[in-house]
Amino acid sequence: MTDVKATNITWHEGHATREERQNLLKQKGCTLWFTGLSGSGKSTIAFTLEHALVQRGRLAYVLDGDNIRHGLNKNLGFTAADREENIRRIGEVAKLFADTGVLTLTSFISPCRKDRDNVRALHVAGGIPFIEVHCATPIETCESRDPKGLYKKARTALASGKGMGFTGIDDPYEAPSSPEVTLDATATSPQEATVILLQYLEKQGIL
Ligand code: ADX
Repeated sequence: MTDVKATNITWHEGHATREERQNLLKQKGCTLWFTGLSGSGKSTIAFTLEHALVQRGRLAYVLDGDNIRHGLNKNLGFTAADREENIRRIGEVAKLFADTGVLTLTSFISPCRKDRDNVRALHVAGGIPFIEVHCATPIETCESRDPKGLYKKARTALASGKGMGFTGIDDPYEAPSSPEVTLDATATSPQEATVILLQYLEKQGIL
């Protein structure tokens, strides 16, 4: 994990407790971390679940890879170092959101197991539930759907000998070894996936 660079800084503990905030919101915060290839259904499922939660009176919010890269992380590209920093920042932001009591949903390819495990460790250390959701949709499905036309672009770049470092084509994706939930968007609709995740959250006592 990245070391603290600043010197002469002191942690200042607040007075309002997490429990007080939870009582205020009548819910417990957590992070649902969606990981998987581009086009594997992460964002569609996350936004469908977010809507279902809000309709049930729960405060939920999606931190979405493409969206975050328009703002907070607009200075990051797709090198290994930038992807690592992308995930580190969002891990910290998700933890802050969840600490406030929000049901926080993140949708990032997050291809490196080590980076996701660091985010998990951060949550565990802070006593915040971390639920890793692997959208294990096979690349064949992702590529045949190709919602943004990026697989086609990546194949063309690869054929021309340049490549574009696209995850699953010419950049690696490391699947989680023990995710809490595994989904495959090939035969599971976003609505069905949402039901599975709602049931999981109920079983865990989060809802
Ligand atoms: S991550 O690897 O750093 O976690 P992130 O989820 O933020 O990636 O962004 C992935 C999205 O960026 C993809 O869904 C796709 O729309 C777009 N994208 C653009 N270039 C690439 C690339 N080289 N590899 C993967 N995704 C890319």
